Amino acid sequence: MSLDDQNTALFGNGDEPLSNHSANPHMSELIDQRRRQILAGGAAIGALGFLGVLPQAVEAAEHGAKLPFKKRNRLPFEALPVSRADTITVPAGYRASVILPWGTPISGSFPPFLEDASNSAQDQAEQVGMHHDGMHFFPADGRRGGGRHSSHGLLVFNNEYIDAPLLHPNGPTAVNGLRTVAEEVRKEINAHGVTIVEIRRDRFGDWQVVPGRYNRRITAATPMQIAGPARGHALLKTRYSPDGTATRGTQNNCANGYTPWGTYLTCEENWAGYFASRDSDLPRELKRYGLRSTSRFGWDTLPGDEFERFDATRKAADASGDYRNEPNHFGWIVEIDPFDPTSTPVKHSALGRFAHEGLIFAPVKAGRPLVCYSGDDSQNEYIYKYVSRGKYLPILRQPGRLLDDGTLYVARFNGDGSGEWLALDLRDKAFQAACSAAGVSFADQGEVLINTRLAADIVGATKMDRPEWGAVNPDNGEVYFTLTNNSSRTVADAANPRAANPYGHIIRWRENRSDHAGTRFRWDIFLLAGPQTDSRGPDGQPLDERNILASPDGLWFDPDGRLWIQTDMSGSQLASGPFGHNQMLVADPRTGEVKRFLIGPIGAEVTGISATPDFRTLFVNIQHPGEGSTATNLLSSWPDGPGRRPRSATVVVTREDGKRLM
Ligand code: FEO
Ligand code: CA
Ligand code: CA
Repeated sequence: MSLDDQNTALFGNGDEPLSNHSANPHMSELIDQRRRQILAGGAAIGALGFLGVLPQAVEAAEHGAKLPFKKRNRLPFEALPVSRADTITVPAGYRASVILPWGTPISGSFPPFLEDASNSAQDQAEQVGMHHDGMHFFPADGRRGGGRHSSHGLLVFNNEYIDAPLLHPNGPTAVNGLRTVAEEVRKEINAHGVTIVEIRRDRFGDWQVVPGRYNRRITAATPMQIAGPARGHALLKTRYSPDGTATRGTQNNCANGYTPWGTYLTCEENWAGYFASRDSDLPRELKRYGLRSTSRFGWDTLPGDEFERFDATRKAADASGDYRNEPNHFGWIVEIDPFDPTSTPVKHSALGRFAHEGLIFAPVKAGRPLVCYSGDDSQNEYIYKYVSRGKYLPILRQPGRLLDDGTLYVARFNGDGSGEWLALDLRDKAFQAACSAAGVSFADQGEVLINTRLAADIVGATKMDRPEWGAVNPDNGEVYFTLTNNSSRTVADAANPRAANPYGHIIRWRENRSDHAGTRFRWDIFLLAGPQTDSRGPDGQPLDERNILASPDGLWFDPDGRLWIQTDMSGSQLASGPFGHNQMLVADPRTGEVKRFLIGPIGAEVTGISATPDFRTLFVNIQHPGEGSTATNLLSSWPDGPGRRPRSATVVVTREDGKRLM
């Protein structure tokens, strides 16, 4: 969802409000020289040359010479012009079809979707959830990771949030700001979470739901376990879990990840808005995450334990008698085994607690630690990295345990193009010193992780322009991250060179000695998004009609090293900008070329991407078409046609000749 759509009223769309009030510098004092280098004139060097990755490319580009390594055109399609059509547009030679829209029956009694949205809460628990986001295709033979099957597998995707006006026949019911219909709220809870669905391609090339045993909905009420250093912590004790080890549900799951051992990772992003606390003295672990006195959907205002858990107001003598700590059960990475429909999802506390956008693994090597990266998508928040203590071995019985013991780091981007990973770990001497200097104490590592943002403030991490998805280039191990935009930045710095930053950019780094487990890196800016007059492509030139974009969000490297970029422009940017609808572009980091490949329907965000192992089928999610619609005012009719409610859905992209996509 987009930032300018946030509001505090019931049913508003809600990205989290700015909550980083730490004194960390925006690094402006470090950077001027660096910034001039990036932004001023000789942009070609600025773009391709930073990491010293492609000196030949820069030289060749500057002399108009043929790139020595350019064996073939990796973007063999005609770039799309911007569009405002209420449809999916793909280049000539490709086709796009729709599967699994919100409400598709997948399990239980397979309740059909009712056009007037009168399906019950129980129906919704047996249907695809609302508002598709991060996604992964697990080949049918990928139970332990990998897999080759390209016409049969499990599609797993997040259902980030809901548009309550479309979820119910006539929108949600509220009286004086209080919810009054439990069945409605249960349906909202069941429309959140994750959808796991077995799909198979039939002989006509169409993907069909297999009504099998794997199909499952994880919702905002599904029982879960908490693992890692915070498990059993005093700050996790609730009426539901007096020992602080269990919880219910996951919500606002934005981007995702998947492990080398065949499990899905879903990431809790703008979860804080689902809770309310009317206490005037919020503890730091709530305050730093922007908890407010009213919640986004008002679930906390209904009686009964299933709803009261969203009310974090202190009511009982201690934490085991109320839900003051319930918000501490959110902001984590959740692991789900899609191949075991009886498995209990696990929240991995070692990976930190924040507005997790996604989780992306560095390439795994047997005998080396696992390394993964995650962004905290709020204004002026940080980018993190986790390094497991144990070594990854493909034969491990319970490899998920590698996600429960390790070191969490946060990034500092220096003005000279260097960067450091700063440990947030009580065993680390520099962290101990930073805590002392700041006059902050943590009882144990569990408390550090519950207060991840505060820990990162203390060590002097770099405030970023809303870190969204990450992706690792299979060609060279460079890590790319989208920084979607930041309307509240007042001071530019090298890594976030525009104040304010309405259009966003993409940053990348290379770990020193290509060691992902190390603590130093070199970074540069890959792309400055924006219109022709205020942008810079990876070739050092301003973007043009083939590729202007704003608010980059989704990011994915295909197996051949192309970078796919998805946008989440806000309603106002869509309405008034030159960019047309939200879209998906493809970049070739070797050549600096960027081309628009897919354009979404009215009001939609393009987010979530995965492919079959043969790279002949691409799955892309379309979220909130017709955003802002009500039952009586439908702003889009995608995908079902005129007069029908718009629905988030998955789009299948193939080539008309059936060959590899590129
Ligand atoms: Fe849900 Fe950060 O986008
Ligand atoms: Ca976004
Ligand atoms: Ca996103």
